[in-house]
Amino acid sequence: MPQKLRIAFIGAGFVNFGGGEGPWDHASRLERLNDVLVSAICDADQEKARSQLYRRQHGANPDIYSGCRVLGSWREMLASDRPDAVIIGLPPVAHGRMIGEAAVELECARAGVHMLIEKPLASGDPGEVRELAAALTEAKAPGGGPLITSVGYMLRYHDMVDHLRDRLIESEKQGRPPCVFLGRYAAAYQYILSPAFWDRRLSGGPIIEQATHFVDLARYLLGEIDLESVVASQISAGDTLGNLSAMPRGRSGRGMDEDVPSDQRIARVTLAQWRFTSGALGCLAHSALLHGKTYDTELEVLADGLHAVLTDPYSDACQLQIRSGGFRSAPVPADGMNDPYLAEMEAFISAIREGRPELVRSPYQDAAKTFEVTCRITAAAMR
Ligand SMILES: NC(=O)c1ccc[n+]([C@@H]2O[C@H](COP(=O)([O-])OP(=O)(O)OC[C@H]3O[C@@H](n4cnc5c(N)ncnc54)[C@H](O)[C@@H]3O)[C@@H](O)[C@H]2O)c1
Repeated sequence: MPQKLRIAFIGAGFVNFGGGEGPWDHASRLERLNDVLVSAICDADQEKARSQLYRRQHGANPDIYSGCRVLGSWREMLASDRPDAVIIGLPPVAHGRMIGEAAVELECARAGVHMLIEKPLASGDPGEVRELAAALTEAKAPGGGPLITSVGYMLRYHDMVDHLRDRLIESEKQGRPPCVFLGRYAAAYQYILSPAFWDRRLSGGPIIEQATHFVDLARYLLGEIDLESVVASQISAGDTLGNLSAMPRGRSGRGMDEDVPSDQRIARVTLAQWRFTSGALGCLAHSALLHGKTYDTELEVLADGLHAVLTDPYSDACQLQIRSGGFRSAPVPADGMNDPYLAEMEAFISAIREGRPELVRSPYQDAAKTFEVTCRITAAAMR
């Protein structure tokens, strides 16, 4: 393993360089680690990539960008200067395929490049994602070591989620496994200016693109979901209740989904229900109805004698409330919460350095199962 790991960004947008409505920004997390260099930023919009590089070279940690190049295509990068690892932050439609310009992961795997890939894995077709997962399983790093893949389900690294998971494991050991998962993901839509969010052809829809974090936590906390049990319904954009009063306007001055064909506009509300293979029941309510910028997200788990409520896991105000044996505890913990994006990045880099894939909590093959559930919910809701 070289002394300094050479990392390239594929995608110069919000998730990799910050902005938008949340705390993401992989570059800033990378800057806090030792022994890494950013070798390239690839984006179809090279002007944008250049301006991100300029900002970073004049920011708090310029050194890791000293030899960084800007490129318009990931193929050009793989052909000219192979990095050790890439961080892929592309719209869902631009990656996760077996052929063509969206075959990013497959070509990186063939070149032996480790990958941190943002969710979702693609914009549709779980069959192709299954095929890709199998191909990635076979792939090796240069020298024959394991090829590390990590998918951006950062909530798996959240201290509160750890705490909740430990309580559920403890309860299960005492013969009281979890019985119910309830997830409520209420997005604020008023300032979402990403065209992909509003167009199912680009994102797969809000369950695949957004509520996927909660579907993944459902699997992480309660185990596998029986796909055949999934039922769902939705309020579509064209329904009477689907008319949004504060639709943001794009550069053209038109509403964000005005130019999207009506059957490709995203659902305003999706309610889904399923059974886990353990026999437990799960339920998810996603909506894109709130004004302002703040999302309201909350999940609950119930077991015999246990009720856990995790509120607002995206923010510093996150709380975990547990009622156990009839008594409600003080929210845990009031202070000292970790940064799950940093923990995710540290795990990825350590897994590469130490050749230990088990440090990654969301490898591609596991994330493919979350993707499959989100596709199933989306299809069931549209029936
Ligand atoms: N885990 C999280 O917390 C989190 C947060 C935000 C976004 N995301 C996910 O990250 C992904 C990217 O989101 P974003 O907000 O950064 O989007 P974005 O639109 O801000 O950035 C995407 C970038 O990809 C570039 N691009 C598009 N097609 C390309 C191609 N073929 N080759 C090279 N560049 C191309 C675009 O020019 C753009 O700069 C989405 O799937 C989103 O769901 C995850």
